[in-house]
Amino acid sequence: GEYAGLGDVQGKRVLVRSDLNVPLDGTSITDDGRIRASVPTIRTLVEAGARVVVTAHLGRPKGAPEDRYSLAPVAARLGELLGTDVAFATDTVGESARAAVADLADGQVVVLENVRFNPGETSKDAAERGAFADELAALADAFVSDGFGVVHRKQASVYDVAERLPHAMGGLVATEIDVLRRLTVDPERPYVVVLGGSKVSDKLGVIDNLLGKADKLLIGGGMVFTFLKAQGHEVGKSLLEEDQLDVCRAYLARAEESGVQILLPGDVVVDTAFPSGDRNPEPRVVPADQIPADALGLDIGPASGADFAAALDDARTVFWNGPMGVFETPEFSDGTRAVAEALTGVTARGGLSVVGGGDSAAAVRALGFDEDAFGHISTGGGASLEYLEGKELPGITVLEDAQS
Ligand code: 3PG
Repeated sequence: GEYAGLGDVQGKRVLVRSDLNVPLDGTSITDDGRIRASVPTIRTLVEAGARVVVTAHLGRPKGAPEDRYSLAPVAARLGELLGTDVAFATDTVGESARAAVADLADGQVVVLENVRFNPGETSKDAAERGAFADELAALADAFVSDGFGVVHRKQASVYDVAERLPHAMGGLVATEIDVLRRLTVDPERPYVVVLGGSKVSDKLGVIDNLLGKADKLLIGGGMVFTFLKAQGHEVGKSLLEEDQLDVCRAYLARAEESGVQILLPGDVVVDTAFPSGDRNPEPRVVPADQIPADALGLDIGPASGADFAAALDDARTVFWNGPMGVFETPEFSDGTRAVAEALTGVTARGGLSVVGGGDSAAAVRALGFDEDAFGHISTGGGASLEYLEGKELPGITVLEDAQS
């Protein structure tokens, strides 16, 4: 059987880098979206008769094994989704991995233990990374890069291994790049971007870039309190990045000059403590410029939800990254639901709606939305943001540059 870019892979050992970095509660997977998105490429290789060796990371262990970051539950879930047995190696390139790979018959799959249990994976030292990539490459005859969520990382299993094996871009990466390109090259207008999530500092590059491209920028989530403070409002105990106040002020000024509309919430839902298991939430809606000193904002308010939806009413292209509030707690999920609902409206009217970022993708599924109601749900968090910032993604360029 053929795999695009690799030719006949029947009987060949193919190393696939997937992004299986899913949220876990203990050992139970709370959102398996990234695993499901990884299935088509793996299934295609299985059907082509390849011996499939899957490598991936989970969380951010510091180069040594940690039980809570084991990929074992993820391998089990992958097996269920594929409908076949999936072997699991208890190390990444050691004895267990070598034996498991040697045992593979054509069309069988093994998942290697968390690649970040090895210091070489994320090392900044190219030689150390390269030595680890040599060990990974020794397990396979070819490489398929399919972990879109990690293509912005210059890491051994994403980057260096592609320099060492015949390689191809996986179907998931190809699809993601295709959709994101439509957001950057001549997007249909109006083009509206919705940003949320906890930190402004994670979104600086993308805001910078989009101020010149989008028609409207809607901001919610934890990061909005730094903007509200930058406008001169008190934000009580809300999340605040003091060191980003000047940056936010500059963005607000630039938006004004360039005619880009920045929409901030006019009301917010507050409580006196962050939601936790041992007390019932006591949500209150207050105007965004009157947040009490003893309260913190946990969602955009109902009027803002309606405003944001109205701002999306005539949108032809939408990119949304980051939840509007602490959506995991029902009392603080309405803002995120309102935005998700508005995006489904954009899709229904024939526009392109893209949900990007692990958290917002998990949010739309957790809130019960049908995935088909969106134009595209990206598996990338940082990777999609960096693509939209116009940054070079090492995991993509290496596929184009390295000798195959
Ligand atoms: C993600 O969750 O965005 C990807 O899996 C990358 O993970 P990382 O930010 O730990 O590199």
